[in-house]
Amino acid sequence: MMNKKNVAITGINAWLPEYRLTNDELAKMVDTSDEWIMQRIGIKERRILKDKTLGSSYMGAKAVKGLLEKTGTSPQDIDLIIATGVTPDMLFPANANIIADQVGIKNGFGFDVNAACSGLLYTLQTAALYVDSGRYNKVIVVGTDKMSIITNYEDRTTCPLFGDAGTAMLLEPTNEDVGIIDHIFRTDGFGRHHLHMKAGGSVRPASHETVDAKEHFIYQDGKAVFKFAVTKMADIAVEIMKKHNLTADDIAFLVPHQANMRIIEATAKRMGLAREKVMINIQRYGNTTSATIPLCLWDWENQLKKGDKIILAAFGGGFTWGSIYLKWAYDSKQ
Ligand code: UT7
Repeated sequence: MMNKKNVAITGINAWLPEYRLTNDELAKMVDTSDEWIMQRIGIKERRILKDKTLGSSYMGAKAVKGLLEKTGTSPQDIDLIIATGVTPDMLFPANANIIADQVGIKNGFGFDVNAACSGLLYTLQTAALYVDSGRYNKVIVVGTDKMSIITNYEDRTTCPLFGDAGTAMLLEPTNEDVGIIDHIFRTDGFGRHHLHMKAGGSVRPASHETVDAKEHFIYQDGKAVFKFAVTKMADIAVEIMKKHNLTADDIAFLVPHQANMRIIEATAKRMGLAREKVMINIQRYGNTTSATIPLCLWDWENQLKKGDKIILAAFGGGFTWGSIYLKWAYDSKQ
């Protein structure tokens, strides 16, 4: 009898720049305090890639190289690499192509997905469909962002939020009862008004005027985004739970996008999950956009067991939001 083929995450890796930007340092740059940031956001420090000559592909390539070593995979065997992030090195070519070149992937193809903070979920699902088609056996998903490059360190409403990181995951087919089971995704383009970068695209290309107006940085109406994020992320996480008749006891971990501690807590509460079942590392890394979810899985990798039922959830620019239900595919080697 043929087993149903599933698609599993068979390896995960991350790379973080060394420099730690603390709340106390931010308080010297803008009118803020450690107390305000901890209370309203829950971030203590974030990593920053200081070297101005290095873009997000650098961190992504570091993460992929480490992933290939860790999983004993040759770059020649990679069929497809999909990268996501809002800070690619260039508008084109895609970061996936640059990363592929840096790590020696020559027998496959690559492209980028842009879905802001939900980018990782959308990319993971896209990659899973390629594997599920039966035509591709080893697919890499890269979530990498150098958020510091589009963060205005004169704007106290956004500068405490973001950090830099690169992550990579390997997807492969399996005959076992593990892997990605389901997803629910949503987009509401009206949300673009509340969270975007005003210039640098084809509507407002870079000019002296756009630079002077600081339009190459993140624009966010924090309150409006918060209101949507706090309800939509919880809604979609609960929706996938109900769809699969999962109770809080069934779930090993919620892996939420790390944008604000209060949004994470509200989602966990709606799902009825205890704190120890929620992956939270926002205190140490801030919002790294496309990298938050793999950064959590990587941090918790040693605690994960084969068959653990996990829900991933995200909300972000677009607006985009979504949840994925998966069963973890391997026990950690420790
Ligand atoms: O991943 C992408 C999705 N993004 C998100 O999910 C982010 C969602 N939004 C948020 O997390 C929150 O809205 C923020 C953290 C951005 C802001 O928190 P808030 O509780 O919504 O604050 P607020 O914007 O309502 O501002 C409250 C006050 C304001 O002062 P006034 O107008 O009441 O006098 C702000 O000027 O706090 C002030 N404020 C600050 N004070 C000290 C804003 N930023 C700061 C700051 N330090 N860094």
